[in-house]
Amino acid sequence: MKAWVSHRPGGPETLVWQELPDPVPADGEVLVKIAAVGVNYPDGLLIRDLYQVRPERPFVPGSEFCGVVEQTGRGVSGLREGDLVIGRCGWGAMADRIAVAEQRCVRVPADTPRTQAAAFMFAYATAYHALCDAAQLQAKQTVLVLGAAGGVGSAAVEVAHALGARVVAAVSSPSKLAFAMAHGASGGLVYEQQVEGREAQQALARRIKEAVGGDGCDVVFDPVGGGYTEPALRSLRRGGRHLVVGFTAGIPSVPLNLALLKSRHIVGVDWRSFVQEDPKLNDRNVHSLLAMWREGLLQPEVTETFALADAPSAIARLDARGALGKIVVVA
Ligand SMILES: NC(=O)c1ccc[n+]([C@@H]2O[C@H](COP(=O)([O-])OP(=O)(O)OC[C@H]3O[C@@H](n4cnc5c(N)ncnc54)[C@H](OP(=O)(O)O)[C@@H]3O)[C@@H](O)[C@H]2O)c1
Repeated sequence: MKAWVSHRPGGPETLVWQELPDPVPADGEVLVKIAAVGVNYPDGLLIRDLYQVRPERPFVPGSEFCGVVEQTGRGVSGLREGDLVIGRCGWGAMADRIAVAEQRCVRVPADTPRTQAAAFMFAYATAYHALCDAAQLQAKQTVLVLGAAGGVGSAAVEVAHALGARVVAAVSSPSKLAFAMAHGASGGLVYEQQVEGREAQQALARRIKEAVGGDGCDVVFDPVGGGYTEPALRSLRRGGRHLVVGFTAGIPSVPLNLALLKSRHIVGVDWRSFVQEDPKLNDRNVHSLLAMWREGLLQPEVTETFALADAPSAIARLDARGALGKIVVVA
């Protein structure tokens, strides 16, 4: 089969399109013919050796997929040949086929649109875990979402809106704000492409407070970090929760007195380890999300697709801060 392979750390240009032997499913694994691959920011970090986990090289990137089960290994009981599945794999999906543990896959109805389904699990399950399990979000509460037009950000906008919360979006361009509002944000603001230094942070804090209104927001969903985190944290009302989700703009340092003031909570969110430690709760979350999608409460939007043979361009697009919603590689 053909696959993209990382032989050395570096950007998408270092990936090699090459022939590999077809994988064979081990006990408990299924062989899946890949239909589409969801592209996520960590894909670009992983190939550069900048992610929390470092697969041994050579490895195939691609962290989630939608595809058809072609073969089942011994001991597989919940999936059959011909099932359409979505799956999380960390790496390995940017290829014609993948052999993956049954537990990493969820069967979806045969008529599920494969392109959207490929990009569903990572972003929505992270957003749901953060908002529901970690922040205990309630209807009518206010959520500020940073990077609200990105993959995880736009999923958070949709999930929070579907749960009856009021969503305020913060993004770096008017088109991103329009995208977030089309997905459920009731308002928001456009911030600078870079927020550095005290003055810029104070100015952003004022603008966020104005957009949020009242005595502040209940939850901040923060997949961006950098200079954006402190102004957002300052917008939390008493008892508010700041969800630390990602650092596309860098890892920030914040004065801890901001947590003491107003008894705010800074809450780390690590979906990857949550899935390992509580796979059943994650499965329940994913099934709740799939039901919400079927009911029309979620509208996953794939704004760009790339052919599998052009997958590095998809990773580069995300690296360049250029994506709206989700980008998918189609096999
Ligand atoms: N904690 C977890 O369990 C978990 C799970 C999934 C993902 N994540 C993390 O969440 C973050 C977002 O992932 P994603 O797949 O949603 O990425 P994405 O689609 O690229 O969205 C990231 C957003 O970050 C903002 N951004 C700010 N500075 C940026 C920069 N220098 N380069 C690129 N984007 C920048 C952009 O919004 P604006 O232009 O509007 O600022 C962009 O839309 C990543 O850090 C990822 O590792 C964490």
